[in-house]
Amino acid sequence: MSAPETYYVTTPIYYVNDSPHIGHAYTTLACDVLARFMRLDGRRVRFLTGTDEHGQKVEKAAGEAGLDPQTFTDRVSRRFRELLEVMDFSADDFIRTTEPRHVRAVQALWRKLVERDQIYLGKYAGWYSVRDESYYAESDLVEGRAPTGAPVEWVEEPSYFFRLSAWQEPLLEFYERHPDFVLPQSRYNEVVSFVRGGLTDLSVSRTTFRWGIPVPDDPDHVIYVWLDALTNYISALGYPDTGSELYRRFWPADLHVIGKDILRFHAVYWPAFLLAAGIEPPRRVFAHGWWTNEGQKISKSLGNVIDPRVLVETYGRDQTRYFLLREVPFGQDGDFRHEAMVRRINHDLANDYGNLAQRVLSMIARNCDGRVPEPGPLAAEDRALLDHAHALLPALREAIGVQALHRALELIWELIGAANRYVDAQAPWALRKSDPGRMRTVLWTLAETIRHVAVLTRPFVPAASDRLLDQLAVPETDRVFAALGAGGRPLLPGTALPHPRGVFPRWQQE
Ligand code: MSP
Repeated sequence: MSAPETYYVTTPIYYVNDSPHIGHAYTTLACDVLARFMRLDGRRVRFLTGTDEHGQKVEKAAGEAGLDPQTFTDRVSRRFRELLEVMDFSADDFIRTTEPRHVRAVQALWRKLVERDQIYLGKYAGWYSVRDESYYAESDLVEGRAPTGAPVEWVEEPSYFFRLSAWQEPLLEFYERHPDFVLPQSRYNEVVSFVRGGLTDLSVSRTTFRWGIPVPDDPDHVIYVWLDALTNYISALGYPDTGSELYRRFWPADLHVIGKDILRFHAVYWPAFLLAAGIEPPRRVFAHGWWTNEGQKISKSLGNVIDPRVLVETYGRDQTRYFLLREVPFGQDGDFRHEAMVRRINHDLANDYGNLAQRVLSMIARNCDGRVPEPGPLAAEDRALLDHAHALLPALREAIGVQALHRALELIWELIGAANRYVDAQAPWALRKSDPGRMRTVLWTLAETIRHVAVLTRPFVPAASDRLLDQLAVPETDRVFAALGAGGRPLLPGTALPHPRGVFPRWQQE
């Protein structure tokens, strides 16, 4: 047998000057669904997340909390790690930029860049925003502030520079050869036109604060936070040990999922650093949109930050996961509204999906002695529903391949809709007396369809899907994509089923 295909997916590493909120949960959720999907599809997956712990912002936040930076970052980083459990995220590794493995990798990458004459010592004079951890040209400023609205300060200091300007042409060629390097397409266009506009060398060290990774052989300087942070994607694979098993297997990454605000760093600077170091760039960067809260920008000062923990406590974990990915096409901005959440919970999950399963399983419990019924010959309608179920996986692979997570859910719900129409049309309850053989065929067809749906919803709503698969007595080893489709492992007639219980409660106003 050939080795399984691999899949390496990463989240951005989160700043520890803030506690986890819906935006962080959203990025990691998308990666989690992709990672789970690929694992179920038989791929060897590496799913990385972590925390970005250096820089002036963190130094400041620690000072305000009356703590030294390491104690402070230990504390906040833990909250991001806890988020994994809160949201049922299946990360394989959690990297912190204060870990020795990361520090070693960043310094090695720096040395590699110096060795290849990609970094030189110069002098930096210009506008810097602490909030954005970013430098701005005079021409970028809008009414004396950064284009993001952040305050800027004039900074003059000796600094090392990365020869970014030399990478304009190679980057443009790279984008041309990889037209899906950045998705959605509109973001790709944005990146290309930014690079076409010209690149200037990038200041990659600072002397004005201490909380960072020292420049090798010049410890007055610390390494620019973005060069430090981006390196996490390879330090977690063991870089500079490029012969390590992890590195050989998983680099280049298949996908970096990020928010649209950090696109330039991932789609311009990162591939430039890598190309300059002689390392292959990642295969794709997907930039998703931003959430607002009931129409308002989410910010600490407005006091409307959404805590994922509260969402999970209020609406349920699978419900929250489903809502975030279904409500908004992945890539676009979204607005969080309580009403929309309740509608999704009650319509899509409780009525469409939950009721379908509950109805079918209770009919089987009552009329088939609580066992998987034995089907007779299949009618055209039965075939049609099963064909639809069998065709779903290839359609989902296509949607997931371009990170169209909302589309994947739509496709699954199209099958759920077809199954609901089929129950109504076949009316198995009416067949109980008139044609019990036909009733068994209809219920078997439905149970098989629900099995497909439950396996395919596992990446999105893992706990509820598994409760449903328990009720269908599907063994753990069969809860994978290889068990689906025409050549799969259908439910075995006669298998005893546990007593059915609803898996998606309705949301009720207290
Ligand atoms: N530390 C950097 C990333 C370094 S990666 C090498 C960083 N951290 S962050 O904590 O500020 O943001 C992390 C992610 O959260 C970003 O992808 C950002 O887009 C996302 N979000 C923050 N607020 C958000 C919303 N309101 N909505 C959706 N995502 C948002 O940037």
